[in-house]
Amino acid sequence: MSDTVDNPFFARLWTAMSSREPESLRRLRRENLAGLTGRVLEVGAGTGTNFEFYPTAVTEVVAVEPEHRLATVARRAAETARVHITVDPDTVEKFADTAQFDAVVCSLVLCSVDDPEQVVRHLFSLLRPGGQLRYLEHVAGIGARGGLQKVADATIWPRLLGNCHSHRHTEQTIVGAGFHVTGARREWVFPPWLPVPASEFAIGVAVRPG
Ligand SMILES: C[S@@+](CC[C@H](N)C(=O)[O-])C[C@H]1O[C@@H](n2cnc3c(N)ncnc32)[C@H](O)[C@@H]1O
Repeated sequence: MSDTVDNPFFARLWTAMSSREPESLRRLRRENLAGLTGRVLEVGAGTGTNFEFYPTAVTEVVAVEPEHRLATVARRAAETARVHITVDPDTVEKFADTAQFDAVVCSLVLCSVDDPEQVVRHLFSLLRPGGQLRYLEHVAGIGARGGLQKVADATIWPRLLGNCHSHRHTEQTIVGAGFHVTGARREWVFPPWLPVPASEFAIGVAVRPG
């Protein structure tokens, strides 16, 4: 289990990258949070790029972000959000709460944790029955792109990008943890012909059965 995330290079890189996201990704972020209500847990919030998109029907967001440089940027983003957001320094593996959440938000984070199956099972336990996991994650491709992703994951990609793995079967992991997936689809954030390992995203709602 990871206790901390301490990555000064990635923190600097992600702070720059997340301030220049393509509109295609911002649109998916907005969609991923649309219609949320109540108490929400956001996993690995980074610089708080999602914060501006929370609907006002959300009463509280607890945003876990263990990389302290990113957490500092996220706390600044929280100050201008429309909803009340606190940034918690725990890893998701360590995070616990006495009350269950109405929703959990994961974006671009299940690629970065060491054991996604364990993390998704933990998220299941943090949700109330009927609660939703909202996910926006880049996922494993097939054919030549899948091969490129495997090479990237075995070489430079996780080292450069804060333990990011591009060839993960995240949708299967979510179903395997016991969630019922509704309204899921895939979308390209960058054109399919560009040799970027993290281009194809899955967006969906997964419900903890009641
Ligand atoms: C690629 S960034 C994405 C940030 C944000 N979710 C977003 O959509 O912009 C991955 C984030 O996951 C965080 N992270 C990595 N391992 C984690 C863990 N075990 N628990 C919680 N967050 C983690 C990193 O610190 C980083 O902020």
